[in-house]
Amino acid sequence: MVAASDQRWTWWPLLPLYPYGRKRTLVRELIPDQLWSFEQLQGVFYVAVPIRMTVVRVRGGLMLYAPVAPTVEVRQALRSLEERFGAVQTIVLPTASGLEHKLPVPPMARAFPEAEVWVTPGQWSFPINLPASWLGFPRARTRVLQEDGYPHSDELVWSSLGPLDLGLGRFQEFACLHQASGSLLLTDALVAINPEPPPIFDLDPTPLLFHARDSGDQPLTDTPELRQKGWERLALFASFLRPEALEVPPLRELLSKAFQPGCRSARSYFGLFPFQWRSSSRTAFEALTQPSGSLLVAPVLERLVFPRARPVVIRWLRELAQLPQVRWVVPAHYDAPVPCSNEQLAQFADAFERREWAPNEGNWDYLASIDQLLVRSGVVPGEDSA
Ligand SMILES: [Fe+2]
Repeated sequence: MVAASDQRWTWWPLLPLYPYGRKRTLVRELIPDQLWSFEQLQGVFYVAVPIRMTVVRVRGGLMLYAPVAPTVEVRQALRSLEERFGAVQTIVLPTASGLEHKLPVPPMARAFPEAEVWVTPGQWSFPINLPASWLGFPRARTRVLQEDGYPHSDELVWSSLGPLDLGLGRFQEFACLHQASGSLLLTDALVAINPEPPPIFDLDPTPLLFHARDSGDQPLTDTPELRQKGWERLALFASFLRPEALEVPPLRELLSKAFQPGCRSARSYFGLFPFQWRSSSRTAFEALTQPSGSLLVAPVLERLVFPRARPVVIRWLRELAQLPQVRWVVPAHYDAPVPCSNEQLAQFADAFERREWAPNEGNWDYLASIDQLLVRSGVVPGEDSA
């Protein structure tokens, strides 16, 4: 049993997402003696999805790709890997825009003062652009991917998606192929959504139970069926922000169900529950996860970022298909490792080119309305201008 104090994360107010000041971490060996996954939960109002750091064995030591919050628990697990495989040599921030991946980097760098830090160019922090050293990146040992080359380039192959102009800043992420294991590490662009609740929820199923309910006055009950139902809703919500089957109830109704007996605890947000599912979430969830274990472009990116860069995304997918042998894909969210071959990546690129992009209806309706608002108000550039 890990002590709660070992899971403390004092930097949470910088990005106040569930589970705030206490982060449990699930450590799994993905490829024996080669690759490890460190997962935590991150989310808003219990819409918590797994976020992953991948630890890669490189010659003489370890590389951390997309760090998570370095709690005592995380540092101890890394120390025990260091004892077996050598020191943490490199810490990589592989995205320009994903704040959830950026914030853990400075404290992780402090925890490993000998490690070199590599960051994606053009770091920005909305709403104010701060220079990297102000964000706590150690200037003397921070290097910039692409501009200063790439770390471990004799063992790893790097591939950049973007930069794409977002108006507010830029989107760029670096995929990394670990040739020894055939593992392709990705950040946000592609995901495989677990058909069943990811194992990290075994440490704390609260977010699943919270969403399995139909109204805020129902207590949190724990059964395998309710965990599954909660997971389906949560994945839909995290993917589309407001899926078609979801209605946000009026405030009066919301408050009338709050503070009911059995719900007067912080764990159930005192009965506050701004979700009302119009219809079954099953069909929509199956569309996200079928065929089981397959890759998908993260819907938020497809609708809000990639419409402006269709050819760039397809070119990047084709570039991934041309890499030396790919056997697994390891994204920084949801399921991993996902079995995947070069042929599958090529087929994925073809299918992505052929199918309709980021539609405006159904589950996509809400994302589309955000996008159209941003384009109309001139905050982001229009279609295909990247
Ligand atoms: Fe992310």
